Amino acid sequence: MAVNIRGRNYLKLLDYTPEEIRYLLDLSKQFKNMKRNGVPHKYLDNRNIVLLFEKTSTRTRCAFEVAGRDLGMGVTYLDPGSSQMGKKESIADTARVLGRMYDGIEYRGYDQSVVEELAEYAGVPVWNGLTDQFHPTQMLADLLTLEEKFGCLKGLRFTYMGDARNNMGNSLMVACAKMGIHFTACAPKELFPAQELVDEARRIAEENECTIRLTEDVDQGVKDADAVYTDIWVSMGEPDSVWGTRIELLRRYQVNEEVMKKARHTAIFMHCLPSFHDTRTTIGAEIAEKFGITEMEVTDEVFESRQSVVFDQAENRMHTIKAVIYATLC
Ligand code: CP
Ligand code: NVA
Repeated sequence: MAVNIRGRNYLKLLDYTPEEIRYLLDLSKQFKNMKRNGVPHKYLDNRNIVLLFEKTSTRTRCAFEVAGRDLGMGVTYLDPGSSQMGKKESIADTARVLGRMYDGIEYRGYDQSVVEELAEYAGVPVWNGLTDQFHPTQMLADLLTLEEKFGCLKGLRFTYMGDARNNMGNSLMVACAKMGIHFTACAPKELFPAQELVDEARRIAEENECTIRLTEDVDQGVKDADAVYTDIWVSMGEPDSVWGTRIELLRRYQVNEEVMKKARHTAIFMHCLPSFHDTRTTIGAEIAEKFGITEMEVTDEVFESRQSVVFDQAENRMHTIKAVIYATLC
């Protein structure tokens, strides 16, 4: 049966079937080709979308803005703190107001329940641009990048190192389970994903002939990996006071040359970005001064190596977000 997701929200990958994800990936490839070949695609002329950010962003915001404009749409950006939402107006009321003016709403913020509530009241598609629990638009970019590099998804071996219970750890585990990719979370057990989500991912993985593995052992975790992925050690919304304990917990899970050598020789390095791979950021410099480390989740050597595909992932955010907007609105 033909896939049709018109009118749907895009809140987490758990809500989507492998066939629907495949459809979005194929559509992303078509949009990427059109963009690369200069073929205009203003299919959504005269429509409007709003981007509601309660946390900062470079990639997600820019991807939505460029994708929206390429599709011919008007785009409004509301930055953290400049809307009435939460402070003077409830989420339900905000959703009903925005839903009367816009054809779609992107939301980045804290608890997943907020984006779910927006979706319940908006009456137009709502797209999750990152919550504390999930980052579903990033998943399509990562899957597209994997497929571009290896020519397939099913059967690949994917290792995520670091904070495996944050939005990226949770989302990647589900994305792999849906698409038949063997997933390993390599992390201290304090930072393993919630058991309930692991159980759900394992049920999905079984249907798609792949496995979900959690390990504290770096040698075991990275052995035979096709892709090694990491993310920052302290996520947006977490207090600065956790840096010390987080560095202690995660320093042996840093992705460095030694770790990459344990993976397949064809392995790629992935990161959603932004990344602390040197001291050329305010936080990077502060951490170096306070804790004496100049690189965190990944070394500069691996980040800048030929194995690194991080900027392909960043570009693919735009093509895949365009597919999500188009498919849910058309
Ligand atoms: N990967 C990602 O979501 O980046 P931004 O925080 O810059 O949007
Ligand atoms: N885990 C990170 C992802 C950033 C794209 C954060 O939430 O800050």
